Amino acid sequence: MALTNDPNWWRTATVYQVYPRSFADSDGDGLGDLNGITSRIDYLQALGVDAVWLSPFYPSALADGGYDVDDYRAVDPRLGTLEDFDRLVAALHGAGMRVIVDIVPNHAGSGHVWFQEALAAPKGSPARDRFIFMDGLPANSMDNAVRPPSDWANAFGGSVWEPVGDGQFYLHLFAKEQPDFNWSNREVRDEFLKTLRFWSDRGVDAFRVDVAMALAKDLTAQPLPSTAELDAQGSGPHHPFTDRDEVHEIFSEWRELFNSYDPPRAAVGEVWVDDPARRALYARPSELGQAFNFDLLQADWSAEAFRQVVASNLALAAASGSSSTWVFSNHDVVRAASRLALPGAGGGNANNLRDAAWLRSGGTEPVIDRAVGLARARAAALFMLALPGSAYLYQGEELGLPEVLEIPPDQRQDPAFHRTGGQLVGRDGSRVPLPWEPTGPSFGFGAGPAHLPQPSWFADFAASAQAGVAGSTLEFYRSALRLREALRADESLTWCADLDSPDALGFARGNGWRCYINFGTRALQLPAGQVLVSSAPAPGPDLGSLEPDTAVWLDA
Ligand code: NOJ
Repeated sequence: MALTNDPNWWRTATVYQVYPRSFADSDGDGLGDLNGITSRIDYLQALGVDAVWLSPFYPSALADGGYDVDDYRAVDPRLGTLEDFDRLVAALHGAGMRVIVDIVPNHAGSGHVWFQEALAAPKGSPARDRFIFMDGLPANSMDNAVRPPSDWANAFGGSVWEPVGDGQFYLHLFAKEQPDFNWSNREVRDEFLKTLRFWSDRGVDAFRVDVAMALAKDLTAQPLPSTAELDAQGSGPHHPFTDRDEVHEIFSEWRELFNSYDPPRAAVGEVWVDDPARRALYARPSELGQAFNFDLLQADWSAEAFRQVVASNLALAAASGSSSTWVFSNHDVVRAASRLALPGAGGGNANNLRDAAWLRSGGTEPVIDRAVGLARARAAALFMLALPGSAYLYQGEELGLPEVLEIPPDQRQDPAFHRTGGQLVGRDGSRVPLPWEPTGPSFGFGAGPAHLPQPSWFADFAASAQAGVAGSTLEFYRSALRLREALRADESLTWCADLDSPDALGFARGNGWRCYINFGTRALQLPAGQVLVSSAPAPGPDLGSLEPDTAVWLDA
């Protein structure tokens, strides 16, 4: 379908996240690349997504899977060239799909030319002012070592402060190879405007903004608050680096740039803040336009939890003039087909990220019933795809891929694993290259072995083994996405109370399209109507009943 100039395309888009290094490898070096993505455009088109979000493909030392960017306006030579990128964009556009690229403004990669200059430059120099360098605290008499400016820990374990040998430290909220930019510096702001223009001029339709809430910082307090003080206070205007009010000046400026294009460039912020109402500020039309909420992927597997997440997010989106985002999987979390299979704790529920972290860290043998996980993941997907707003899918989710747990320590790549001495297993299990074929050195990913090891059971999930097979997860997603397109309704939702159970939910869209989901353990009688699609792998003969861990769509 030809692309239109519709400025609101993103409001209800189905977006497919590609993690480029693990999608398809065209040159057999084990790393996925841009030409690999281009070679799979037919697959994406047949799946029926509206847009493709590319996680970072920029030059990077891969200290954090590409989220350590050494050059914001280039392609990692291992992944291709700018010409390859242009061809990919043209091919996606030609196939009716928009392109979203990841922009990582909070921190550079340590190979970035500005950071190398900063390291070589003296204290107080303009080169250091592009990042956040601070003097250490006076040496303590015990060991005579200069102490870091605060006790803050980075996201992957260890201090946020790295000494540079002259008494100064630089700030890195993530890995030490990810130095934080100083967004009070006009040069930094201008540099990113240039980058946004660079990709917009190349035809990119939208940006996914990494760690959007942390750009504005104020580290002038003396002494800096302790971690305990920050935890007690929470994110918001008084936090030194999370969700400060000044961050909105930055995104208002970005919006002016976005609106200079036709159609305006869209954006979605990755925003982790304590107060959902403050998250909505990033999603205002005068700023990014959309912000991720990760509430569904953190919700307990229960009707009440899901209902509450949907109701609150629709209200927030409406209040800010945005549309809601929905996510069950991405490159940072345990794949839904495994996460949703974790056993409930004490009659409650253990399907949230905290327990998933336990799963990743090995714990004792986690009880993962794959059939339950897959049933729930499919039901959750059908529920999400019926909601007003945009749905973000993660590569492999349409194959029902489980998390890969069996990655040997020496092949793990995630800094979270290495920096915690393996206490956290990290995110590699959701980033293992996709199985396209049931056989071959990397299951059709490329001509050689993949950069992360694929288990033998990947054969069962291969795309080619599912294509055309009735009841397969791939065919289920294809049908649901085709119907989602055909059923497009206004952005309203009305809850239906016609299922006789507190463990089920039903809602209707403005055109009468209905979705029902059963979180309970007994089958329920469905209201009258024709079943358009069911999440059950093999719907039983009784289409009038809604089995446990199943969702269906009914016509008006
Ligand atoms: C969020 C990204 O999704 C994650 O993969 C990355 O590690 C951090 N931001 C830091 O860039």
